[in-house]
Amino acid sequence: MSFFDIFRTKRLKAEVDFENLPKHVGIIMDGNGRWAKRRGLPRKSGHGMGAKTFEIISEFAGDIGLHSVTFYAFSTENWKRDKEEVEALMVLLEDYLDNGLTKLAGRNARIRFIGDRSAFSESFQQKQKHMEEATEQNSGLLLNIALNYGSRDEITRMTRHVAELAAKGELKPEDITEESISDMLDTAGLPDVDLMIRPSGERRLSNFLMWQSAYAELWFDDVLWPDFTKDDLLRAIIDYQNRDRRFGGRNK
Ligand code: FPP
Repeated sequence: MSFFDIFRTKRLKAEVDFENLPKHVGIIMDGNGRWAKRRGLPRKSGHGMGAKTFEIISEFAGDIGLHSVTFYAFSTENWKRDKEEVEALMVLLEDYLDNGLTKLAGRNARIRFIGDRSAFSESFQQKQKHMEEATEQNSGLLLNIALNYGSRDEITRMTRHVAELAAKGELKPEDITEESISDMLDTAGLPDVDLMIRPSGERRLSNFLMWQSAYAELWFDDVLWPDFTKDDLLRAIIDYQNRDRRFGGRNK
């Protein structure tokens, strides 16, 4: 990193209001495939670089004092990709489950996974559980990783659960409120998403945190995820802080 890079990051940091950080940031890590293609590399190289960016950005998010960040790492629809690509992604994710704790040591982050775990092997699920348990007492960044996650799937699973409780007489219609629904989703306990970041030029949510993002500010940029930098995160936060958030009401 050059002197100029350090100076630019410092200047951007000075523009951030650290009293008014978004409480929950969602990040769609998009553009790995195109990053690789532009370099004549296989798609899995793009995912490998994307995983490195994930580590840099999650560490930086903790350093600047963000409360929670949720990364979209593998969607319920991503199984449709070529077997080779899905396998490469699973290897990367499992490597993170095996070695991530060591890398995270001293960073004080709490790791949680959202999504349907039942599609993963027993040992993969055990590793997820171990990582969550080993970090649950930490007090820093809440680092959520969405794996086999899709909002429609999450809402379907939650609704099924509600129907089961109702059938057993354990839930009455009046118990169903926006708060109780939020508490039954995978993201229970997390604040709503304030800022949703999607690099790579696409401008959609792609089934990510749709309930939780009802009033999120959306930030899009053409940068591909492997090239996404700390400065991009700061720029997204500064942009968010300059938005006029009315939540359906009117400004005084
Ligand atoms: C979307 O880019 C990205 C994914 C489907 C995978 C994201 C996963 C990682 C970055 C690895 C995460 C690792 C850890 C350790 C959590 P794309 O392949 O759709 O890109 P394209 O639109 O350019 O083809």
